[in-house]
Amino acid sequence: MSLTEKIPLILDGDPGHDDAIAWVLAKGSGRFDILAVTTAAGNQTIEKTTYNALRVCTLIGLHVPVAKGCPRPLLTDPMNAPSVHGESGLDGPALPEPAFAAQSIGAVELMARVIRSSSEKVAIVSTGPMTNTAAFLMAHPELKSRIRCISLMGGGLLYGNWTPAAEFNILVDPEAAKIVFDSGVPILMSGLDVTEKALVKPADFERIRSLHNPVSDIVWQWLEFFYRFHKTLGYEGAPMHDPCAVMALIHPEVFTMRDYYVQIETCGDYCKGATVPDWYGVTGHAPNACCLMDVNREAFIDCLIDAVSAFKEAGI
Ligand code: RIB
Ligand code: CA
Repeated sequence: MSLTEKIPLILDGDPGHDDAIAWVLAKGSGRFDILAVTTAAGNQTIEKTTYNALRVCTLIGLHVPVAKGCPRPLLTDPMNAPSVHGESGLDGPALPEPAFAAQSIGAVELMARVIRSSSEKVAIVSTGPMTNTAAFLMAHPELKSRIRCISLMGGGLLYGNWTPAAEFNILVDPEAAKIVFDSGVPILMSGLDVTEKALVKPADFERIRSLHNPVSDIVWQWLEFFYRFHKTLGYEGAPMHDPCAVMALIHPEVFTMRDYYVQIETCGDYCKGATVPDWYGVTGHAPNACCLMDVNREAFIDCLIDAVSAFKEAGI
């Protein structure tokens, strides 16, 4: 794909500070034809993440259909993360009120309409629990071949962040994750293995703050808020979990990637929600995911800052 061709894209997430920054990156990069936004319940309730999605889209000038997603996981009980993202799910700087309302149709139907009508295959960037994407795959198997890939933030090949074994997005809806990983759709997996190396450090906040455009003025404050929680855990910066799933599509050169067959643990007392890689091919299964393993942090930050700066130059 040439650098000028735009990738048709659906953004599915649970904003969430890092989801919001991922959407800023997607819009500011200019590399995507963003067709729709769908919201997931995860960081906060579906009502709150949908309100946040509409506010973020208003802030960044992303006037595309936004549809509310599944209000709860496929099988497990709902779980939120107010300790990380606050009661609103996007605590911190004041944001504009939504300039438009969510669609009357739900996320699954919007995904189907967008993918069915696109002349090209559509990529999905999933940055929350994968309930919507799994529900879409179950409801519309005939459209599976029209999906370019699913670039997802989720899991950790070596460890979790919500339990010792499970990362939040997978743990919230492990059955949905299993459906996605078993679907046969090409997967780019940004797990904790790489996202916790994609750290935006305080010195980087200042580079973003110095851009002085309407979006950068918010992004640096989101970063500060997100870092506040992570600093208590000893992080040297704010981990850019969700932006990795966008960056993987437009700047794969800043990552080290490995193909693995990854299974999702959906039961168990200690390992439910684990993403289990077949390191040595002992299952006999072909790999189902291209897993991001490492990142050139400085290059990653430069690409992120380029995207945020675009809101100044292009007035977008
Ligand atoms: O574990 C990190 C993931 O959980 C990110 O997507 C963050 O937004 C939260 O949803
Ligand atoms: Ca998220």
